[in-house]
Amino acid sequence: MTQLKNKVAIVTGAAGGLGRTFAIAFAEAGAKVACADVNLEGLEETAVLITQSGGQAFAIKTDVTNMASTNQLVEQTVSQWGQIDILVNNAAIYAGIERKPFWEIDEKTWERVMDVNVKGIWQMSKSVVPSMFERGGKIINIGSATFYSGSPGWLHYVASKGAAVGMTRSMARELGDFNITVNAIAPGFTLTEASLGIVEDAANYGINRGAIKRASQSGDMIGTALYLASSASDFVTGQTIVVDGGRQFN
Ligand SMILES: NC(=O)c1ccc[n+]([C@@H]2O[C@H](COP(=O)([O-])OP(=O)(O)OC[C@H]3O[C@@H](n4cnc5c(N)ncnc54)[C@H](O)[C@@H]3O)[C@@H](O)[C@H]2O)c1
Repeated sequence: MTQLKNKVAIVTGAAGGLGRTFAIAFAEAGAKVACADVNLEGLEETAVLITQSGGQAFAIKTDVTNMASTNQLVEQTVSQWGQIDILVNNAAIYAGIERKPFWEIDEKTWERVMDVNVKGIWQMSKSVVPSMFERGGKIINIGSATFYSGSPGWLHYVASKGAAVGMTRSMARELGDFNITVNAIAPGFTLTEASLGIVEDAANYGINRGAIKRASQSGDMIGTALYLASSASDFVTGQTIVVDGGRQFN
């Protein structure tokens, strides 16, 4: 197992699903983990799961679209652990998205998806990078394979995940001189609680399109996340790794 000993990580959207999986995996690899989300109840469960297994974590209610909130998360993390080495921008509007033709999406929903999924990555990264300038760091943005497949029925979501790929590339170029790498993971359809409400028969959704014909579980993302968070990926930046069992190639 790749080791993240003595590293400090922030994971956003850590109240459940993939964010909880990343937070637990990083803690198991030795990192101290600040768990951030708007859902405090879920967050606290994540932090307890980590601390009960002997890891170090705290939960802090954070809205990634709000500068005061993201700054507070950074201040608390630095005051508690003295540094930030890893940021996982995982928070997003995904659960509850209603799939419909783009001409039926209302403006308020469009703006909310962009606010959290696009501005949230910028806002959170903007708050964190000053604490990485001297020591270097690792930023991992969570995109989606839907950007590569052009998945129909959720143009706002697909556009927002395309923005995550674009921001990953530009941020990588802007942060290279500070020894900060920026990469993205683009998961394929993965069986989290949020996914169950998005399509019918989620357990079998898209399986036949994969080179590896089985459903994706949250745990399938762990290896790539640990790699991108660790020194093993120090010369890799600006990249998006699609983790979908070979449903599509980019
Ligand atoms: N599950 C999949 O099939 C899949 C596939 C591709 C990409 N993704 C991406 O993976 C990530 C996690 O997905 P998931 O399946 O665990 O879904 P999820 O809905 O459980 O996770 C998203 C989390 O973000 C939090 N969040 C929403 N708005 C926030 C805000 N303003 N500030 C802070 N936190 C906020 C939610 O409370 C939630 O806990 C998302 O970025 C999603 O787009 C998921």
